[in-house]
Amino acid sequence: MEIHIVADADAGAKVVADLFERTVRDAGDSGAVLGLATGSSPVPTYTELIRRHRVEGLSFAACRAFLLDEYVGLPAGHEQSYHAFIRENFVSKVDIEDASVISPNGAATDPAAEAAEYDRRISEAGGVDLQILGIGSNGHIAFNEPGSSLASRTRVVGLTRSTIADNARYFDSPADVPVRAISQGLGTILEARRIVLTASGEGKAAAVAQLAEGAISARWPATVLQTHPAVTVVVDEAAASQLELADYYRHSRALESDIPLSTDR
Ligand code: PGA
Repeated sequence: MEIHIVADADAGAKVVADLFERTVRDAGDSGAVLGLATGSSPVPTYTELIRRHRVEGLSFAACRAFLLDEYVGLPAGHEQSYHAFIRENFVSKVDIEDASVISPNGAATDPAAEAAEYDRRISEAGGVDLQILGIGSNGHIAFNEPGSSLASRTRVVGLTRSTIADNARYFDSPADVPVRAISQGLGTILEARRIVLTASGEGKAAAVAQLAEGAISARWPATVLQTHPAVTVVVDEAAASQLELADYYRHSRALESDIPLSTDR
């Protein structure tokens, strides 16, 4: 796990955008498969990628993308659906084909079958080249809440009270927040070839400390990322504030700054 402690969201977005740019350029005309996330954490990265598209000509035209998750029960096209969120914050502002950006259908009549089919589609596309993740204050990644199997596949999940409270800011009232979602499983996410997780703010500090330094456990689902060979974690000072080894991470990043990104660690 490679941990970058950055000054602010803009500095973090540059680190993460560099990984996306490298992935997109390396794939060339065959097109990278991008793993996209919703929530506030990835937004500065999307903003930086939109800038690179507009100003530097970075093209996503050959890419395909899969979202991590989708609420169950919102009507298709609902403004708080993740399908709509990713279009508003990224997809509509770059040159990726709309039809190449795929998410679970939260309005499916059989959500369990939709989840299994979604998992299959990701494999059929050859798997995800680079997956961006946020982290919940309770340590979830995607909607893999505490207690999720570390080998879980895409499935229908119930949201915890804390996640519903965290997400209520996007809805008129907490009662409007959907209580179920279709989420890629932890086992599904681990199949991405490279993973980058980004977090900011003190509210994420406990989860980030567990992610990087806690015991691997379903209690903190993000700890499963310790078993993946190519994970980059990008956090601001507040989110890094409970890391016991913060000085070591700073020191080792300085020493390793000339090692190519393709080196797994
Ligand atoms: P946030 O959510 O990026 O909006 O903080 C992250 C998450 O819950 O996974």
